[in-house]
Amino acid sequence: MHAVGVDIGGTKIAAGVVDEEGRILAKTRRSTSPDDVASIDRAIAEVYEEFSEQYAVGAVGVAAAGFVSTDRNTVLFAPNIAWRDHAIGDAVRGLVGADVRVVVENDANAAGWAEFRFGAGRDAADMLMLTIGTGLGGAVVTDGKLVRGRWGFAAEVGHVRVVPDGHVCGCGHNGCWEQYASGSALVREARAAAVADPARAADLLRRAGGDPHAVSGPDVTAAAEAGDELARALIAELGRWIGEGAASMAAVLDPEIVVVGGGVADAGDLLFPSVNAGFLAQLSARGHRPEAPIVGATLGNDAGIVGAADLARQD
Ligand code: BGC
Ligand code: NA
Ligand code: ZN
Repeated sequence: MHAVGVDIGGTKIAAGVVDEEGRILAKTRRSTSPDDVASIDRAIAEVYEEFSEQYAVGAVGVAAAGFVSTDRNTVLFAPNIAWRDHAIGDAVRGLVGADVRVVVENDANAAGWAEFRFGAGRDAADMLMLTIGTGLGGAVVTDGKLVRGRWGFAAEVGHVRVVPDGHVCGCGHNGCWEQYASGSALVREARAAAVADPARAADLLRRAGGDPHAVSGPDVTAAAEAGDELARALIAELGRWIGEGAASMAAVLDPEIVVVGGGVADAGDLLFPSVNAGFLAQLSARGHRPEAPIVGATLGNDAGIVGAADLARQD
């Protein structure tokens, strides 16, 4: 059976028809606004209708960046999108027909499930995945099962506090790991550096048309690839936060493998050495325990689509 997977980001949704082997047969995109949740519901309905004209699809999986209820129908809260107790499943069924199966899952759980089934974690039984983009999401697979917790909110690793009284987070607290280990954190630090020391940030400023507030994540990655010292230092610092936090996660989970995905993982070779160094520096019992490898995700931007579709099919 084919299923539709829909991955909802801050400003766009990406969707695909996915077969049972995790292959994407067709793909499409829509622009949406994070403040207009009804437009997101409509976009999901639209892509489903577009695909169901051409394919026999049995279910729709929706990967949503927020806290998803146990019954996989409602986003109860989201730090970076305006969802508050919003029943996406009901809303979409209201638009496409009550008989269509709609299964909502946390975006990072969906991406992690895809990597576990078809990607970097496919040979492992215990996996931690970190999905690093606008926010920091997590997925935990233990003994081959996605850990969802009693209320569906397990693996919200981005909101573990790593700095007392640290930066304010979209969740309303301070010092969350997401505020240090995410694309948003990288951009915040890059912009601050461009304001504080324009000479050192000359390369970044040039890429951003001279405006320190216009520096973007891809600007930082491109500058680092071109050898810019400041950009490299910013990415290394991001990597350190990712790695050190992953070591704390390993103290709880003892994973067999740690998979790092999301847009930030595109920085690849620039990022992973400092992730590894941070991880090993903070790993407890080091020298007396196996060290879980930290590897890049292999499904790239498609992981959310593939995982959401697969979970919807199985539900
Ligand atoms: C949210 C998670 C989400 C992650 C990645 C976090 O801010 O709390 O639910 O998985 O961002 O999008
Ligand atoms: Na998650
Ligand atoms: Zn938070």
